[in-house]
Amino acid sequence: MKPRTATFAVSASEPTGFPPPTLPEIAIAGRSNVGKSSLINALCSVSGLARTSRTPGRTRLVNWFHIDASNMPGAVGRLGQLHLIDLPGYGYADVPMAMRASWQPLIEAVLAQRPTLRAVVLLLDIRREVEQEEIDFAAWLTDRKLPLVVALTKADKLGKAQRPPVAAAAKRALGLRREPVLCSAQDDFGRDELWRAMAAAALPPRP
Ligand code: GTP
Ligand code: MG
Repeated sequence: MKPRTATFAVSASEPTGFPPPTLPEIAIAGRSNVGKSSLINALCSVSGLARTSRTPGRTRLVNWFHIDASNMPGAVGRLGQLHLIDLPGYGYADVPMAMRASWQPLIEAVLAQRPTLRAVVLLLDIRREVEQEEIDFAAWLTDRKLPLVVALTKADKLGKAQRPPVAAAAKRALGLRREPVLCSAQDDFGRDELWRAMAAAALPPRP
């Protein structure tokens, strides 16, 4: 499953640079280096669309990507034209404290102030335990009635048999109704399932 087009739209370092809220938006959030930018490239089947790096803290701006998903099957196609938002990572980025402090309000501005934001994908590294920061983040979204999709990425780093217990533990820790989506940007594992979960979260319920 691959969108018809996926192109870079705009970068912003502060809310005044955000694009006008015209298209439905899905934001990708998570700890620095978890694989947010890589996952956007995998979802779009365009390598290098979002810049990735081995060094945590690569994405320091908020980046918007314009996606035409209208060619995709089923509910995913009903997403039509949308924006995927690549957020800077939170957490233990090896960058100066002052710079980190400047990201938090930027991330919050996207999550709290975009009338077009339809859903948030929270990415977790399948090899890490869910941390308090992520529990708080999920609760914060729930308070704001923002639909949340949780995905465990870098699944390629664990054997197949080791994955289900991790998914169950993450579901429990975050109080989710559904199991997190298992995925990997390395081999596109879980990509279609993640598109479907994103569509289910972002689309209004059908009458
Ligand atoms: P920041 O922008 O710094 O917040 O990072 P990010 O969350 O955008 O992570 P990014 O996509 O830049 O990936 C970080 C590192 O993890 C890179 O070295 C990627 O190649 C690697 N990576 C990302 N996804 C996967 C995956 O599914 N499997 C494996 N094995 N490596 C991955
Ligand atoms: Mg990034």
